[in-house]
Amino acid sequence: MSSAVAQPSFEARYTLPAIETVADTAEEIRRKQERIRALCTERNAVLLAHHYQRPEVQDVADAVADSLKLSQAAAKTNADVIVFCGVHFMAETAAILLPDKKVLLPDLRAGCSLAASITPEELLAWKAKLPDAVVVAYINTSAAVKALSDYCCTSANAAKVVRAIPADRSILFLPDKFLAEVVARQTGRSNIIAYPGYCHVHKTIRPEQAVEILAEHPDIEMLLHPECGCVSSCMAKAMDGTLPQDRTFFLSTEGMLRHIGDSSATEFAVGTELGIMHQLHKKFPDKTFYPVNPDATCAFMKTITLDRIIRSLETLTPQIQVPAEIACKAKRAIDRMLELA
Ligand code: 13P
Ligand code: SF4
Repeated sequence: MSSAVAQPSFEARYTLPAIETVADTAEEIRRKQERIRALCTERNAVLLAHHYQRPEVQDVADAVADSLKLSQAAAKTNADVIVFCGVHFMAETAAILLPDKKVLLPDLRAGCSLAASITPEELLAWKAKLPDAVVVAYINTSAAVKALSDYCCTSANAAKVVRAIPADRSILFLPDKFLAEVVARQTGRSNIIAYPGYCHVHKTIRPEQAVEILAEHPDIEMLLHPECGCVSSCMAKAMDGTLPQDRTFFLSTEGMLRHIGDSSATEFAVGTELGIMHQLHKKFPDKTFYPVNPDATCAFMKTITLDRIIRSLETLTPQIQVPAEIACKAKRAIDRMLELA
């Protein structure tokens, strides 16, 4: 695998929202959730939430899942309104798949540092240098970037998508350099050229933290999201035996839940954003989980609160729309992924 361009600084491209503390009592939460469910019925709305959402938002949702399952759920829904409790690129994906439905994102500050790391202009310039390469875009990209891509993928199916591309074709893989490394290792391909983007949250999940947890809990299974900054080092550590090779896994958020359900292990180190802990504790009360980085919080995801969902359902705003020409081209890349998934 090779890298595309020198490492730029992406931090200047986005503003991280302040994380608001919500001090609702249990009774207030219950009343707001009831109001949301009543509004969903009134509006014929479905509420989709990502695993990184606040616990009280996950608890009121119709479905809680990873990016792939949320796209599949959006593609199948009969609802007139989709309330996306996630970030902007996820709502855009739903709007591309369902142009006749109203897709709401309760807070427009819900961006994504990874999606911000590549613009359509940058992708065009990169493609011009390697015009014969196949472009695989992670779902964490804008609709305009997807429109310039051949395939879309998520962390749950990136290796599958790459395997579907003839072995002799070079691949421009964007924008996550850590996911690109995992996919190159999983597929054994040397012709993947990685864009140097990263998620500011997952980048902070470091190999030393993984090794430290293992020293404290020698029997754990190590579950790491492929966006983590530690992936290359952890893959090497799994090879040299510093981390247990048969107990180190690179998984999407949904993949983690599935893996834990199938595993006989009782203790897990979890390398991803902390919102997932809510589902883990809820679904597996008898198992124990240790976050690899206890500070891994996505401020973009936490902008969505119960109050903002209520306001969004009452006013049917903010609505996410994608211009038809971009949507039509982006849909090709998303559809290719969904067909493979
Ligand atoms: P998943 O598709 O694994 O849920 O990941 C989405 C994401 O934004 C990770 O940061
Ligand atoms: Fe984007 Fe990272 Fe937040 Fe996921 S955790 S939505 S990749 S900023």
